[in-house]
Amino acid sequence: MKSIYLDHAATTPMHPEVIQAMIPVMEGTFGNPSSIHHFGRQARKLLDEARHLIANSIHAKEKEIVFTSGGTEADNAALIGIAKKNRHIGRHIITTEAEHHATLRTAEYLEKEGYDVTYLPVNESGRISIVDLQNSLRDDTILVSIMYVNNETGVIQPIEEIGAVLKEHQAYFHTDAVQAFGALPIDVDALGVDLLSASAHKIYGPKGIGFLYIRDNVQIEAIQHGGEQERKRRAGTENTAAVVGFQKAVDLVKKEGQIRNKEYRALKELFIQTLKKRNIDFEINGDEQFTVSSIVNISFPGTNVESLLTNFDLSGIAASSGSACTAGSIDPSHVLSAMYNREDERTKNSIRFSFGIANNEENVKESAEQVAQIVKRLTS
Ligand SMILES: Cc1ncc(COP(=O)(O)O)c(C=O)c1O
Repeated sequence: MKSIYLDHAATTPMHPEVIQAMIPVMEGTFGNPSSIHHFGRQARKLLDEARHLIANSIHAKEKEIVFTSGGTEADNAALIGIAKKNRHIGRHIITTEAEHHATLRTAEYLEKEGYDVTYLPVNESGRISIVDLQNSLRDDTILVSIMYVNNETGVIQPIEEIGAVLKEHQAYFHTDAVQAFGALPIDVDALGVDLLSASAHKIYGPKGIGFLYIRDNVQIEAIQHGGEQERKRRAGTENTAAVVGFQKAVDLVKKEGQIRNKEYRALKELFIQTLKKRNIDFEINGDEQFTVSSIVNISFPGTNVESLLTNFDLSGIAASSGSACTAGSIDPSHVLSAMYNREDERTKNSIRFSFGIANNEENVKESAEQVAQIVKRLTS
């Protein structure tokens, strides 16, 4: 049985060039970047170079990049950091119902801490309404956190438009760009964002490394206490090898990003067309014109996530869903619940397929044939 990986939005394999870039650092540059001696200075130099390239990739300054352990930490640092720093100004935060749990759970934590959170709805396309946002803004709103690309559906939010609205308001604007970074060009000034989260393991880099972009004049209260690393914004010895791996992954996006996106979109289209030819009943969730090239979320009426994923796995196909299976029952996807409603069957019979470096025409076609067979079997 061949294994076919269609879950690049969950995580990506490390690019061979990323691994090659990290090995010499792990072997030779073990110094603590904060040390004054030359071992430390060597590591510091690598960090500085990586910070330069990564900052450039989003049109930011080096000092605006804070390395974190990934997207989750970046989201936590943004939300909690801004909330605590600005509690004397206001305690109202706006986010959406379709955010990643890294944001949603943090917002819920802040509610328990006495903050007031508005969760904007999304429509059937998966996007928020700008009017809803405008109507939700208050004098005490201190933060708006809206993801750039949804991890379950691939739907892109109108970040630039949101940024334009917020220009006139005191609220800071954070975007979780974990699924956007590498998939869409990012210019923090054009987008009008003050904070932005990204993660390396979605772009063929190592796990456990990401960054939070924090605009120059924006202050956060650090969530970790300890050393003075990252300009006192994130205590803890930096992971030099992971940062260098992240740098290589970003460098590869710069060189190959456009070609990759074209390839992934073609593979996604091939997958959909193959399913269509096999005459099975399916529906794409979210408005395709607003999705990134690598992700498609498909509902298969008459099935359920649990049996789909189990059967796919038995056939060697790795995909995933936003629904959590707990003790034999399926919790509907919160993203699809936000787009449709909690009772809608789509929240329980939808699968995310995400394409990337592990795919080619042959294995995508083969996987679509297998998916079609499984769906036919389950619905017959
Ligand atoms: C949109 C989004 N935000 C945040 C995260 C969390 O990132 P990390 O796995 O680097 O903590 C993910 C990971 O799946 C994601 O897709």
